[in-house]
Amino acid sequence: MRTNAATVSLWTDTAQVPVHPPLEGDTTADVCVVGGGIAGLTAAYLLAREGRSVVLVEALQVGAGETGRTTAHFFPPDERYFEIARRFGDAKARLLRDSYERATDLVESIVQAESIQCDFLRLDGYLVPAESGGADVVDREHACVQKLGIAATRLLRVPGLEWDTGPALCFHRQAQFHPVKYLAGLTRAVKRLGGRIHGDTRARDVKGTDVVTEKGTVHAQAVVVATNTPFNNRFVMHTKVAPYHSYVVGLKVPRGALKPFLLWDTGDPYYYVRLDAQQEERAYDILVVGGQDHKTGQEGAPQHRWDEIEAWTRRRFPQAQEVAYRWSGEVMEPSDGVAYLGRNPTDRANVYVITGDSGNGMTHCTAGAMLITDLIMGRANPWVSLYDPGRSPLHGLTDFAMEQANVLAQYTDWLQGGEVSAPDRIPPGEGALIRDGLKLMAVHRAEDGKLTFLSAACPHMGCAVHWNSAEKSWDCPCHGSRFDIAGQVLHGPSNAPLAPAGPT
Ligand SMILES: Cc1cc2nc3c(=O)[nH]c(=O)nc-3n(C[C@H](O)[C@H](O)[C@H](O)COP(=O)(O)OP(=O)(O)OC[C@H]3O[C@@H](n4cnc5c(N)ncnc54)[C@H](O)[C@@H]3O)c2cc1C
Ligand code: FES
Repeated sequence: MRTNAATVSLWTDTAQVPVHPPLEGDTTADVCVVGGGIAGLTAAYLLAREGRSVVLVEALQVGAGETGRTTAHFFPPDERYFEIARRFGDAKARLLRDSYERATDLVESIVQAESIQCDFLRLDGYLVPAESGGADVVDREHACVQKLGIAATRLLRVPGLEWDTGPALCFHRQAQFHPVKYLAGLTRAVKRLGGRIHGDTRARDVKGTDVVTEKGTVHAQAVVVATNTPFNNRFVMHTKVAPYHSYVVGLKVPRGALKPFLLWDTGDPYYYVRLDAQQEERAYDILVVGGQDHKTGQEGAPQHRWDEIEAWTRRRFPQAQEVAYRWSGEVMEPSDGVAYLGRNPTDRANVYVITGDSGNGMTHCTAGAMLITDLIMGRANPWVSLYDPGRSPLHGLTDFAMEQANVLAQYTDWLQGGEVSAPDRIPPGEGALIRDGLKLMAVHRAEDGKLTFLSAACPHMGCAVHWNSAEKSWDCPCHGSRFDIAGQVLHGPSNAPLAPAGPT
């Protein structure tokens, strides 16, 4: 399955979503959904179930984005309840909890109603201290969830593991599933309900509630932009959301050696663990461990991060055998820890966005689809103000200021020399920046020696892209756009390719 990066995840390796043909010319619909990940497909499903005619356009194919690269834990906010309560107050922290519970319940009910075989499982999830400490964080979270009335049990260690995790906070009835099998099931359901899905159809612009794609225009009454990061909002949303890359390793473990569980630690960035144990056809289970996040586009050779995760895992799980998967993906971090779900703040028309999902995209995207369905159907929804994309970013002032300073610093790349002096210094299969007078060129050397010269200027807001040797892509360090070696967009917010360039 073709995805937005070079590595293959456990999920895209073990499930298929049907390929959808491109849009052919103009069409009409009540709602146009842009993006075929969990956010877009859930919105399309809920709206089609309400009797709305829906057209979904997807630049690549369903599941090619971050939903195919996730680890699909349904768990409490990774920013933690005590931080959410401090920033937004107890009442909003409880609303957030309600939205998480209702989103997880909705996924479970869709799985049942649509008979989706996606290994959905309810299970316990544990917050544990990081290697460097964090028992106090576990205690603060415990005190906060007790105050908020959230069911969680403090334990001396996670039961059933050889590794002594130290004090753990157990959240009951969390969940996991196989995200690509879920998308495949949602796709079937949307089509059964009359929804139309088009792959290889990139939306280029949103004019009022018309979605202009490269293959025709969808004239709609409402638009849901579910592209992980909105391409239609050039500036405002991108000051509130920061792109991070996260790394995942899947290691074989003997069948039945571990019971399914979710676990994440108090580190920043944190490690997160789950088990994929429901595949009858496999002779082993896969222990899936993620972490080692860093800002997208700000590390050229990140392969060592997979090694770090593997070493971390082997120190804790003696059951771990050989590595079966290594992949990475992009996570959009909101500056205040709460996703942005609702009306696009720069639009008067019926245009909605789902972004800033953080490491809680399964729940945030599902909650976003529920909220936006209510708004489109003209119903009240209790989460509107909590998740309002137009809210001030100052709830998370320190993180907001830090991220703005980080973005500004990236523009100094234009004052630097290139990374190599000439194309022959680039190893086969790699890329590097080369200065040519006032220009910075992004140059790739293929295994057969063929050179591709592109402008390094990201079409979104002009930062210089950097080579990502792990995913063989050009990644923008400012707002997380990513491009393939031919310059085509893999991930927004840029909606235009890197321009061709040539040595002068
Ligand atoms: C390594 C990793 C681990 C994670 N772990 C977890 C976890 O354990 N639990 C959790 O809840 N979340 C987790 N997340 C986050 C979660 O995976 C994401 O938040 C979620 O999948 C985002 O879904 P989405 O539908 O918004 O985006 P995507 O799945 O990226 O879908 C967006 C789609 O829009 C398409 N698109 C983009 N631009 C256009 C355009 N202009 N026109 C048409 N189509 C377009 C893209 O091709 C893409 O298919 C993780 C993420 C990563 C990367
Ligand atoms: S993504 Fe904004 S400048 Fe590149």
